[in-house]
Amino acid sequence: MPLLLLLVIVILSALFLYWQLVVAEGAYFGKGVVAWLYNLVAQRYNRIKQYDAEDDARFLGAPLALSLQGISQPIVLDVATGTSRLPLTLCRQPLFHGQIIALDNARRMLHEATQYVQTYRDRVTWVWQPAVPLPFDDHTFDLVTCLEALEFMPSTPAALGEFIRVLKPGGLLLVTNRTGSGRRLMPGKTYRQEQFEALLQSLQQTDITTQVWQVDYDLVWSLKPDTRKTCEVFGDLTGLAPIDLLRCPACRAQLDGAGDTLTCRSCGRRYPIGRDGVIELLAVRH
Ligand SMILES: C[S@@+](CC[C@H](N)C(=O)[O-])C[C@H]1O[C@@H](n2cnc3c(N)ncnc32)[C@H](O)[C@@H]1O
Repeated sequence: MPLLLLLVIVILSALFLYWQLVVAEGAYFGKGVVAWLYNLVAQRYNRIKQYDAEDDARFLGAPLALSLQGISQPIVLDVATGTSRLPLTLCRQPLFHGQIIALDNARRMLHEATQYVQTYRDRVTWVWQPAVPLPFDDHTFDLVTCLEALEFMPSTPAALGEFIRVLKPGGLLLVTNRTGSGRRLMPGKTYRQEQFEALLQSLQQTDITTQVWQVDYDLVWSLKPDTRKTCEVFGDLTGLAPIDLLRCPACRAQLDGAGDTLTCRSCGRRYPIGRDGVIELLAVRH
């Protein structure tokens, strides 16, 4: 009898761990565990995912490049960039002439990202930093994207709030909403379509459109309303290098670059830049 009980406990524990670590990817244990798991699979990530470049161009690259037409030097933020799927498909678009800041919480995913985007190194800046808080001023980006990642973050509303904060008025937000069996297996972390759209609405987003995309994800498009009065102008960011847009995560002041380090103008914290070019904000604990 005790042996049977032991067997049941072992099986239940194995199922629990499978659910928590494989299905939910560590989401219920916090962002440190999520990053640890992604670091473990980073080198195999693209082989596991088998992204289709043509599909990505059709559903992501082309429509996003089109939406940015008319902005002379658009600046894009891809949160939870993984191995740079979004930067890659966007940079391949002939219509796209902007800069992308690609941010992720898992350092090894970013290292892989730098390897995949070699051809476009001058157009992508990688930052090691979680999605909340984002190290940028309000109203910085023309487009913010976050694909296949919201449900792994500690709080979807907090993350969306940050994405919208750093979007320029009139800017486009593209995120994914988990669907299919994956949604039901992550209670408290996922949203039905109408709940997700209501959440975006409560954050003042407009023109919210859900588009069926992959087996496990819908694409959700929305706009940040442009509530500026005609006389009100936000700082002109045209021509600024992506590094000039970065802010110290500890005190929000500007950072100055010299060699392989960025130094905060206000608190003096020094943030290293890895040999692969990744800006390691997370290397400095606050
Ligand atoms: C399934 S991958 C998606 C990667 C990429 N967006 C794509 O579509 O290929 C999820 C990514 O989210 C990142 N991530 C998870 N939680 C995060 C957080 N709190 N802040 C920043 N990145 C996070 C992971 O490190 C991982 O690279």
